[in-house]
Amino acid sequence: MKSLFAKMAMATTLGLGMVSVQLPAHADTKVGLILPYTGTYAALGNAITDGFNMAIEEAGRTDEFSIVTEDTEAKPPVGLAKARKLVLQDKVDVMVGVVSSGVLGAMRDFVHQSQTPLIVANAGNNLATGENCSPYIVRVSFSNGQINRPMGTWMAENGIKTVYTLAPDYSAGHQMIESFSAAFTAAGGEIAGSDFTPFGQTKDFGPYLTNAQSSGADAIFVFYAGGGAINFVKQYGSFDIKTPLYGSGFLTSPLYVAAEGDAAIGVRASLHYIPTLDTPENKAFVDAFMAKHGTMPSEYSVQGYDAGLALMAAVDAGGADKKNIAAALPNVSYVGPRGALEIDPATNNIVQNIYVYDTVMGDDGLTQKLIDTIPSVRDDVAGCQM
Ligand code: PHB
Repeated sequence: MKSLFAKMAMATTLGLGMVSVQLPAHADTKVGLILPYTGTYAALGNAITDGFNMAIEEAGRTDEFSIVTEDTEAKPPVGLAKARKLVLQDKVDVMVGVVSSGVLGAMRDFVHQSQTPLIVANAGNNLATGENCSPYIVRVSFSNGQINRPMGTWMAENGIKTVYTLAPDYSAGHQMIESFSAAFTAAGGEIAGSDFTPFGQTKDFGPYLTNAQSSGADAIFVFYAGGGAINFVKQYGSFDIKTPLYGSGFLTSPLYVAAEGDAAIGVRASLHYIPTLDTPENKAFVDAFMAKHGTMPSEYSVQGYDAGLALMAAVDAGGADKKNIAAALPNVSYVGPRGALEIDPATNNIVQNIYVYDTVMGDDGLTQKLIDTIPSVRDDVAGCQM
């Protein structure tokens, strides 16, 4: 938000008798950050916020964007209520956020009908860029299919014949496992069994781990994120399961892998960003992030950062009103910390590389070792009509 001093210095003062009206030199863009700040995904919401703020600060444009934050608690009805509040009461020009696919699903119709652009900075809900796509929803994070489909093929091609899957019982869990399983079986693999665990509530993964182990599968493949990922990986370690653990890469995110400890060593996973990518764009980003926060960035920081870059690019191209922001967002493309990215105008989903990585012990603790790169992964149009 523009400081009062700066606003006054930049303002044109109209003298109207005793009253003076301050006109800012250029209008603010009002941004609603709609993220979980409590509950199992709270750390993710905070990391996305930090990344978003970093992009705006680095560009020296904090005066231009006023930010209102709302906590979705990662609960669909709360997220919808907060979206309505941001649009109808705060009159934001654009919303940035949403971590949970469930919240994105609940907000979709309101976002579309209110014609308020939403830059999705996490939630992978396939439908939001598939059959329920909207010109007002643009995703700079990933889709659930985009992360897991390539890994299904990759694992089948790399000698894994049977897999047991586990995920939380909500839309993201189901979509991630469906996408993985479809690609894995299409490439010749077999699903030995599958369980969905109560979302945000499962404290004891023991019975599920036992099922997975006794299925005799070559590997376990899971989606867990945030608090659920930490609990799952720690219990996998303490049960001393011999079946190797694979997953979508949120499982061992650099945001919380240190809390998982040695149990994370050897987990193999797929993700759209790891902080050890050896590119000039990523090195510059990691250095700046380390200098500011003292930790390595994660995929969540990058998603927030890219949401900030995309928003600034759209405002520059089209202007700060809702319609122009929405129209300009699909044209965004650049090489950033995760590599080359573009928005597919047929779906408004991001097109990007997917990285296969192992969590390994490095000199300074757990780190990410790049194993393979699946370039430029694009989703099918899947029923999207803009
Ligand atoms: C989702 O609900 O779409 C979701 C949540 C957390 C993640 C990834 C996807 O890390």
